[in-house]
Amino acid sequence: MNFPYAEPFKIKTIENVKRSTMEQRKQWIEEAHYNLFNLKSEQVFIDLLTDSGTGSMSDNQWAEIMKGDEAYAGSKSFELLKSTVQRITGFKYMIPTHQGRAAENVLFSALVKEGDIVPGNAHFDTTKAHIEFRKSKAIDCTIDEAANTDVFHPFKGNIDLNKLEDVFKKYPKEKIPMVIMTITCNTAGGQPVSMKNIRETGALCKKYGIPLYFDGARFAENAYFIHKREDAYRHAKIKEIVKEMFSYGDGMTMSAKKDGLVNMGGFIATNSEDAYNKATVFAILFEGFITYGGMSGRDMGALAVGLDEATELDYLESRVQQVHYLGRKLMAENVPVQQPIGGHAIYLDANKFVPTIPKEQFRAQSLAIELYIIGGIRGVEIGTILADRDPETGKNRYPDLELVRLAIPRRTYSDNHMNYVAAVLEHVYNTRHEARTGYEIIYEPPILRHFTVKLRKI
Ligand code: F0G
Repeated sequence: MNFPYAEPFKIKTIENVKRSTMEQRKQWIEEAHYNLFNLKSEQVFIDLLTDSGTGSMSDNQWAEIMKGDEAYAGSKSFELLKSTVQRITGFKYMIPTHQGRAAENVLFSALVKEGDIVPGNAHFDTTKAHIEFRKSKAIDCTIDEAANTDVFHPFKGNIDLNKLEDVFKKYPKEKIPMVIMTITCNTAGGQPVSMKNIRETGALCKKYGIPLYFDGARFAENAYFIHKREDAYRHAKIKEIVKEMFSYGDGMTMSAKKDGLVNMGGFIATNSEDAYNKATVFAILFEGFITYGGMSGRDMGALAVGLDEATELDYLESRVQQVHYLGRKLMAENVPVQQPIGGHAIYLDANKFVPTIPKEQFRAQSLAIELYIIGGIRGVEIGTILADRDPETGKNRYPDLELVRLAIPRRTYSDNHMNYVAAVLEHVYNTRHEARTGYEIIYEPPILRHFTVKLRKI
């Protein structure tokens, strides 16, 4: 029999959230200079800004928090995290960091130098910024299908092996310290990479003698898609899939705030003793001693438990199916969303949603502001503002996709919340021909501007 899925957990603690009026929200967003990052969380009804660090922990994770060993060196909590990372990823060495970008900072400080080339599948913005900050270059080798929101492709995060090989042929090996494969690919819309593509990318990297590193922030969700969409893995356990995925690479950076099911944390894991040794120097410099690297003992304990919980099929089924539940509701009303729906978020195609606003006036940002004012829902722009200016020309980079991301926190909102979000979106979409305002920038920092940019209504 085919009953609907239901969450494999029940609720023990709740957090109240406040409702507000449209008039209040209009005032608050103006005071926030039309930057949703500047809103107070109390001014938000449903917060879909990110799925990063916003999920709920289990009773077992909270129990592990009480057992945290806060020794400066060699704590039990570190040993628990290390053995869990080794068991789940197969990587031998592990260095904790306080979050994902800290793992990037430590690893890239050790391996990436000026003038280097780091190919990958649409690097996440902090990854790209850490590469460009070192005056090296990130080259996007994602398959072309990723840029078309109408095309159904089961693994839109895949690397185009021809594009990657072209990069390998064009630059000397010494200039390419690593390839970074992001699973799932956040920038392409939370889209997974197939096992076949991981295997083939791994083989190509080996052929050219270039290390393959994963950005594993959503590795468990990637494994779920492999389980669902790749025939050979229908009967494989998630933990087996995860182990095989990582077996084709040399190491990973991890933002544990996603598939680690914790509110803060990260790590580097690798099989390379050399990379590990080099990275420890920067870990101590930037993060802390190598057995805590920016995390409390209790947080390492909660992460160890979270990694185990996140790699269970029942959990992943309810997590990803909730995202897809919202996606299906929107598609049924023809609301333009990126397809197929990814693992952690819905991406609204702003080019189709607000086509009357010129792209120079930040379409996707305008749409995100509209959703907040109408429904108290906070999403995030993944478009021109996020793309930053070209470091060489100083001009705005206009990406092919102008998206608004609605990221769903893990184990946090109910399907009723999803129904509310869908109702607000349908309303905004059905009134899309009404006049909408664009925005102009009145302040921006040189990189990662989307966090602190200030805007004015045009
Ligand atoms: N890699 C990916 C794929 C990410 O999505 C993120 C963060 C990071 C690295 C950096 O990790 O935040 O722990 O320093 N993504 C968040 C998001 C911020 O909203 O998608 P971090």
